[in-house]
Amino acid sequence: MKKVAIVGAGQSRYGDFPDKGIKELFFEAYKDMISSVDNGIDPKSIESAYIGNLGSGGFQLGNMSALVTEYCGLTHLNTMRIENACASGGYAIIAAAMDVLSGAHEVVLAGGVEKMTDVSGMKQKYWLGVSGDTEYERLAGTTFAGLYALMAQRHMHEFGTKREQLSMVAVKNHKNGAQNPKAQFQREITMEQALKGPIVAHPLNLFDCCSTTDGASALIICDADMAKKYTDTPVYVAGFGGASDFLAIHDRVSTVALEGTKRAAAAAYKMSGLSPKDIQTAEVHDCFTIAELLAYEDLGFCEKGKGGQYMEEGHTKLDGDRPVNASGGLKSKGHPIGSTGTGMAYEMFNQLRGTIQKPARQVKGAEVGLIHNVGGSGGTVAVSILRR
Ligand SMILES: CC(C)(COP(=O)(O)OP(=O)(O)OC[C@H]1O[C@@H](n2cnc3c(N)ncnc32)[C@H](O)[C@@H]1OP(=O)(O)O)[C@@H](O)C(=O)NCCC(=O)NCCS
Repeated sequence: MKKVAIVGAGQSRYGDFPDKGIKELFFEAYKDMISSVDNGIDPKSIESAYIGNLGSGGFQLGNMSALVTEYCGLTHLNTMRIENACASGGYAIIAAAMDVLSGAHEVVLAGGVEKMTDVSGMKQKYWLGVSGDTEYERLAGTTFAGLYALMAQRHMHEFGTKREQLSMVAVKNHKNGAQNPKAQFQREITMEQALKGPIVAHPLNLFDCCSTTDGASALIICDADMAKKYTDTPVYVAGFGGASDFLAIHDRVSTVALEGTKRAAAAAYKMSGLSPKDIQTAEVHDCFTIAELLAYEDLGFCEKGKGGQYMEEGHTKLDGDRPVNASGGLKSKGHPIGSTGTGMAYEMFNQLRGTIQKPARQVKGAEVGLIHNVGGSGGTVAVSILRR
């Protein structure tokens, strides 16, 4: 079977940028990606592009991929927008990998962009909600924070997960994000702050929630046989998997597990020939602190119900045996929906090549990393395993 490799990766700064539009944000990531290709790349050699995007503030809903790639001077592409809610970027990687594996194209761009801060907080929650179950959950007035709050409540009830263990995720990820010059919130928070944030949806407070973010990211994915033309240190996509589940959590077999994560991870592990014990570092979808604990369990890093304990034992801190969200995660780096998955791959590309800008955040010696991107409250999940 053919293999694919990532040979370039770029990301815009994540944050709140009233002076930048969708095109400018994407161009920032594109320029960064082009300059990251060690031996250079002729943009004309890019044949396809898959652009993750949910709705860019609800304003630009159509022809997104042509819009942002045209601004980069690429008007010759097989291009399409990929929309799978917050997992759009993760699925852009899968689409690009499948394009190359099919033999249709050799050099493909996978990227994502979102502009979320142009609309009011209420409107943001309204258009974010379209990614969940709109028939029952939305009619009942739930937000994503509300849905993850239900999962957190149940996890605490069934397994004794402690409030403090949720806050440990926030403190860790803000500590990492403070060292990331492209993160939205480059500041540390104390345990006391994390515990006492204003309540959003009990038991989740402000510091248990990701933010709303403007940002973009882009990758160059090519046939592994030609990767060395572009760089001596490609990062291979060793395996990938995508999986869906019921959109509404009341339909699912469990409210304390994301079956989509389990299925997507199983496919990625199978394709790569690797298992959870081989994963040295990961970027997981911590849209809410409970989501990071669920990810530890559903990706097989620890047993079901032990996510809080696994956090508390320090395994996933930067100096732990399996650092998770060294970038700051969605919590501190930010969550510009369509860009989140390809942004995780940007981080992992640099982690595995040892090219993280600030050495304090560099995971030492990692050769295998996993990225995990969830859409809605688990309706779609994309997992990829990357290897130096
Ligand atoms: C958490 C949330 C409710 C806060 O929204 P808000 O109350 O409108 O907050 P604001 O944007 O007015 O910001 C208020 C302050 O909190 C800070 N802030 C906002 N979100 C924050 C977060 N997640 N973490 C830490 N600080 C945050 C802001 O910087 C601002 O600080 P300042 O007053 O010093 O400038 C909102 O960001 C949210 O809905 N997040 C979840 C998004 C989501 O569901 N994504 C999809 C996931 S599946």
